Amino acid sequence: MGNKVRCIGILTSGGDCPGLNAAIRAVAKTVVRQGVGIVGILDGFRGLVENRVMHLGSNELSGLLTLGGTILGTSRDKPHKMSLPDGSYHNMTGAAIENYKRLGLDCLVCLGGGGTQKNAYRLLKEGNINVVTLPKTIDNDIWGTDVSFGFDTGVTIACEAIDRLHTTASSHHRTMIVDVMGHNTGWLALSAGIAGGGDVILIPEIPYKIEKVLDALLERRAGGKRFSIIVVAEGAQPYQSGQEIPEEEKSAKKKKKKANFFPHQVPSSEKLATIIETQIGIEVRVTTLGHLQRGGVPTPADRIIATRLGTEAGECILNQKFGIMMAVRGSDIVPVPLEEIAGKKKYVPLDHPLIKTIQRLGVSLGN
Ligand code: F6P
Repeated sequence: MGNKVRCIGILTSGGDCPGLNAAIRAVAKTVVRQGVGIVGILDGFRGLVENRVMHLGSNELSGLLTLGGTILGTSRDKPHKMSLPDGSYHNMTGAAIENYKRLGLDCLVCLGGGGTQKNAYRLLKEGNINVVTLPKTIDNDIWGTDVSFGFDTGVTIACEAIDRLHTTASSHHRTMIVDVMGHNTGWLALSAGIAGGGDVILIPEIPYKIEKVLDALLERRAGGKRFSIIVVAEGAQPYQSGQEIPEEEKSAKKKKKKANFFPHQVPSSEKLATIIETQIGIEVRVTTLGHLQRGGVPTPADRIIATRLGTEAGECILNQKFGIMMAVRGSDIVPVPLEEIAGKKKYVPLDHPLIKTIQRLGVSLGN
């Protein structure tokens, strides 16, 4: 073991989500009690490259548990591909590492999603620095952890929206399409769809057939149901008959960009609405939840998981265990080597219990 840890830096990177401040607070409280200093790095990796920081003392750390967003600010910038004001991109990894040393840091704590895990691992390798990360995102798509903080809040908000859409759908005898986030995975749509009682749930992992969606709506109508709810993950895509999905397209690497199975054939929810209205004569309205799902206070479940992950990260830092992401596995929090996580994405497996649950309910996945 090397010298005692004296000072750590903490940053938040990627899209924000509820629970980031709770996690910052948890890491900080754990290490400050042992005399470790904390530097808040502003706006993700950009702040590290530009040496923009804030003091994180007891004043700054109070009131954080319930606060949405991130007090540190965030960005999607990567040290190795940093945009400059003239629009060009530069590898600023050297500057990031220099500033880590200039600030006298013994560890960099990065709170972020899949991209952040990758960027943190790159810094660790190229700069030979100490890194610990935490998994955050409403998408729940981070490899290596059962769940990320922010997800429960995202599901809760989407579920409440679906509940509200139910009553107006039922009053007007309409079909409501609700677009939820999730990047190119279906965790958020599946969970919110089950909790909100969606009648059709479309996710990126299962290309859907428009005829199947229409069948499901017609079947409900034939059964006397005068309204329906369709939950659509933002990356959901239609399957085109006769066109098989090439195996290589299915690979995680090629799925990086959303909607890249059939880029020219992806109808937006508005187009899906038009098809439903013109082909089967059911009136449709579309609601896109967008960034509402990421805003505001974290749910109690997210506060707890962010706090558990943060305090375990603090403990690992004090024990000089680095190069890891703290992960949720069952009821435990465990350290997972960053090299096992970097560059991977957690898609919904087709035999996942959530899929089975939906199939047993007779809810359509459009396949
Ligand atoms: O990763 C979180 C997320 O909200 C995704 O669900 C969504 O695809 C993306 O971020 C939106 O990004 P932005 O905030 O940059 O519009």
